[in-house]
Amino acid sequence: MNRSLVLLPGDGIGPEVVAAAEVVLQAVCRKFSHQVDTRSYPIGGAALRADLPVYPAETRAACTAGLPVLLGAVGDPAFDHLPREQKIETGLLALRSSMGVYANLRPARAWEGLEDATPFKPERTAGTDLIIVRELLGGLYFGEPRGIASDGQSAHNTMTYSVGEVQRVARVAFALAQARTRRLLSVDKANVLETSQLWRRTVSAMAADYPDVALEHQYVDAFAMNLALNPTRFDVVLTENLFGDILSDEAGAVSGSLGLLPSASLGDHGALFEPVHGSAPTLAGKDVANPAGAIGSLALLFRHSWKAEDEALAIESALAATIREGHRTADLVTAGQAATSCSQFARLVADRL
Ligand code: IPM
Ligand code: MN
Repeated sequence: MNRSLVLLPGDGIGPEVVAAAEVVLQAVCRKFSHQVDTRSYPIGGAALRADLPVYPAETRAACTAGLPVLLGAVGDPAFDHLPREQKIETGLLALRSSMGVYANLRPARAWEGLEDATPFKPERTAGTDLIIVRELLGGLYFGEPRGIASDGQSAHNTMTYSVGEVQRVARVAFALAQARTRRLLSVDKANVLETSQLWRRTVSAMAADYPDVALEHQYVDAFAMNLALNPTRFDVVLTENLFGDILSDEAGAVSGSLGLLPSASLGDHGALFEPVHGSAPTLAGKDVANPAGAIGSLALLFRHSWKAEDEALAIESALAATIREGHRTADLVTAGQAATSCSQFARLVADRL
């Protein structure tokens, strides 16, 4: 296999976790005799600091050429004061929309060896293995009109969904459910929001095309509670953009740390892989970040972009073994435990490949 991928190290701990994923990538390439070429491009605060726009044209060209993209993180408090059009978060949304990645898969599981790291009762979380499918290009994140009134006394955002937007992401979720335990939960707020009523009606109508999938609906408030109370009940969870953003952080807490969560954002032409954690500026440059989310995202890249399931499973089992053997980065240690550094953790995973 001879392939290429685009790296966007970004800001904060982004470069460190991407470097960790590269160490694991080299080990996979050795094990499976692959050749993978990588090329890095600036985005976010890293681009602004180089006097470039937040999502430079050259970076956009590389990301929209059809190669898979691995992103570290973007976000830099030094630029928080910028107007919305120049904000780093706006650059991230531009990246996602330019790549057309509308289905954001965020798997979350309980890890053997981390039973004491979750704030939840381990007997409740043990066996958790769910995947949130978050709509990524619609809803409040992109809806127009939006803005702050000129007198600064009011502000507004718009939540819009079309049937087509719901259908394309729901298709991904139904297909995923078919490949897993054939259960799909759709999360909405249909008791209050018209967008959710359209969402529920659209997803329900599609169920006829997937007779082998058991479809259920829950309101987002009830699901937020049930995810904490009984996370093992869920498998594939489909939801809109903002609900998915919030619920995936909660799923991170169920796992033990947001640092563990990988993600894959899929569209009809491109695919973007990024850990769910942010740039964590206070941890940057200290080699203390948890690279598990980035390493897991690399596994998802092999699975979804290159249909290389053996490679994906090899990465995931090396990661699971490293964790099971008790190696923990700073976000997961409890009193008296020694922390493994980000780079050391990556080497341990690579050794297990
Ligand atoms: C995420 C992040 C982003 C989001 C931010 C940084 C714009 O929180 O990927 O979950 O809200 O989508
Ligand atoms: Mn988020």
